Parts: sequence; C-alpha cells; structure tokens
Amino acid sequence: MDRTRAYISSTGMYFPEKRVTNNEFAKTMDTSDEWIRERTGIAERRFSAEGEATSDMSAKAAMDCLDRAGVSPDEVDAIVVCTVTPDMFFPSTACLVQRKIGASNAWGFDLSAACSGFVFGLSTGAQFIESGRYKKVLVIGCDTMTSIVDFSDRATCVLFGDGAGAVLLEPSKDGEAGIIDFEMHCDGTGEEFLYMPAGGSLNPPSHETVDKKMHYVQQDGRTVFKFAVKYMTEVSEQLLKKNQIPIEDMRLVIPHQANLRIINSISDRLKLTEEQLGLNIEKYANTTAATIPTCLCEYHRAGKLKPGDLIMASSFGAGFTWGSVLFRWGI
Ligand SMILES: CC(C)(COP(=O)(O)OP(=O)(O)OC[C@H]1O[C@@H](n2cnc3c(N)ncnc32)[C@H](O)[C@@H]1OP(=O)(O)O)[C@@H](O)C(=O)NCCC(=O)NCCS
Repeated sequence: MDRTRAYISSTGMYFPEKRVTNNEFAKTMDTSDEWIRERTGIAERRFSAEGEATSDMSAKAAMDCLDRAGVSPDEVDAIVVCTVTPDMFFPSTACLVQRKIGASNAWGFDLSAACSGFVFGLSTGAQFIESGRYKKVLVIGCDTMTSIVDFSDRATCVLFGDGAGAVLLEPSKDGEAGIIDFEMHCDGTGEEFLYMPAGGSLNPPSHETVDKKMHYVQQDGRTVFKFAVKYMTEVSEQLLKKNQIPIEDMRLVIPHQANLRIINSISDRLKLTEEQLGLNIEKYANTTAATIPTCLCEYHRAGKLKPGDLIMASSFGAGFTWGSVLFRWGI
C-alpha cells in the first residue's frame, strides 16, 4: 500500500508503587498463592494509591514516553486514551491528560474497547499519521481496574491490576519501520460473558444497583478463556498469512496478558518459541488496556528490540472485541 507509515517513535509506562502479592488475598478469602499462580500465572499486581485515577497514571506514562523521545507536550497533535475505567463519564480522560501534561495544541478522545483498547487505539492513531493530517499522536492504554473489581469475588479480583502504557506515533522516517497492517473485530453477542452491568444509561446508579454489586466486573471466566484463545490465534494467523510473513520471522508476539494459560495456548497454536513470546503478566496481572503497551515498553527498555524487528500485538476483551496489529520496529 502506498502511504506514509506510522511508526512507534517512543514508549512509556507507569505502574503505581503499591505491590500486592497473591498471599495478600489469601489473608481475606479462600484462595492461595499456589492456586493463583497455577491457574493464571500471576504472582503480584500493582494497586493505585487513594485518589490516583486513570488520568494521573496516563499522564505519567505519557510524560515518560515524551521525555524519552525529547518531544515537548505542546508538539503533540492528538491524544487517544484507551480505557474502560475513565476518571468519570465526561469530560474524557484524554482532556484531563491534555491538561495534566500541558499538551496545549492537542485534541483527544477516549476509546472504549476493554482489553482490546490499545490495539484498537494503535490502529486508529496510526491512521491519523497515515492520512498525512498529523505528525505526533500519543496512544495511551490505561486502566484502574481496582475501581471496578469486587474484592469479595475471588474468581475476578485476583486477576486484575492497575497501570498505564503509552506510545508516540510519528511518520516513518525510512518508510519501512511502522504499522504494516492490522485486523480488528467485534461481536456484541459476547456482552453477557464479560461486562459491568450498571452505571450507564441502561442501569443508572441507584442504591439497588450498588446493593446488587452491579458496578463491578462480571464474567463467565471459562467462556472468556475459550474465545480468547480461539480469536487471538485466528486473527494472528490471518494477519500473518495476509502479509505472507512466516511465524519464524517474528521477533516478538505480545498477546494481551489476561491469563498465562490463555497465552501459552495461543503460543502453542502459533508455534512461537520462548524468545518470541512477550510476557509481563507475572508482575502486573491483567491491566486491561495497559498490558500490551507496558509489555512493549519493557522489552524496548531492556534492549531486546532492534530496528527492523517484526512485532505483532494481539488482544481479546469484553464486547467481544479482538484484533492483531503487525509492525516493524524502528528505534
Ligand atoms: C477465571 C479463571 C482464572 C478461572 O480458572 P478456571 O481454571 O477456569 O477455574 P473455574 O472457573 O473452572 O473454577 C474452578 C474452581 O476454582 C475456584 N476459584 C475461582 N477463583 C479462585 C481463586 N482465586 N482461588 C481459589 N479458587 C478459585 C472456582 O470457584 C471453582 O470452584 P468450584 O469448582 O468449587 O466451583 C479462568 O477462567 C480465566 O482466567 N478466564 C479468563 C478470564 C479473563 O482473562 N478475563 C479477562 C479477559 S480480557
């Protein structure tokens, strides 16, 4: 395709200081470090401090990203914040981030696609660059999952954590580095398997919705597990096939970090080597829209990526939503 590619010119991340190990949960509910590690691959996660919201974590990840690139916030054209835990319904978290980082020339909006937020946001942001309209687009994936999980439900509360990751998109300098292709999907029949029933226009907040715990994540874990494996595998295979790239050529594949058993099933099906598989679930659990950008940032910072490397990120989340994005590294 003849177009300006958008490439990732910097990465950033932020995790709150508070570390919570599996043993902390075992003190208050019928669970154990062994069960959580074995069934999910999670050892610990981070919890935001009191009063620390999605815009605060997003702003920190954004500044980390911009500082690394030597880019001033007023150079940013647009901010896309991918989240399902915005500070509030409105204004958007993107507006709050714009103010907090002083991005005086940027416009922005929030993008809601749950755990697929970042891949949807990356492919959306890339198109602003590809169209030639903008030169610097910040895409942030951030969720404060502790604000919507039921800490008396052992089947969900152990799975999630808080965090933020960010990337800066700019026009590719050499035309090679950048977003090569993506494939995105949604299927609203998945609604009933993973959702937060109240708080919106369908079930506005009331004493009743609070009493019935309708402001928390509800999920059918087994169904979500099954579709996550199927769809992330299929969409990744389709994307590689369409671009005639054999799996052996991939330097890194980062699947959404929801459960290590989901990740390993995908890895087996795609025939990935240990070296090719991007992981950070053990330390941070499922941070929803933040899993992929934080994982990418960690591999970048660890010096594990070099210009020319082929990378694919794949996600699955509430909706259902799912997709994969394929890109060539350029920094
Ligand atoms: C939630 C999940 C970890 C449960 O694992 P599982 O192996 O499927 O376990 P099951 O749901 O079959 O439950 C097995 C038992 O473990 C229990 N269990 C659930 N959570 C537990 C915990 N934290 N500690 C101990 N036992 C637990 C269940 O209550 C159930 O007990 P029962 O047989 O007495 O009813 C798993 O289904 C999962 O990760 N699904 C995907 C969820 C996800 O990633 N969501 C976000 C997607 S973007």
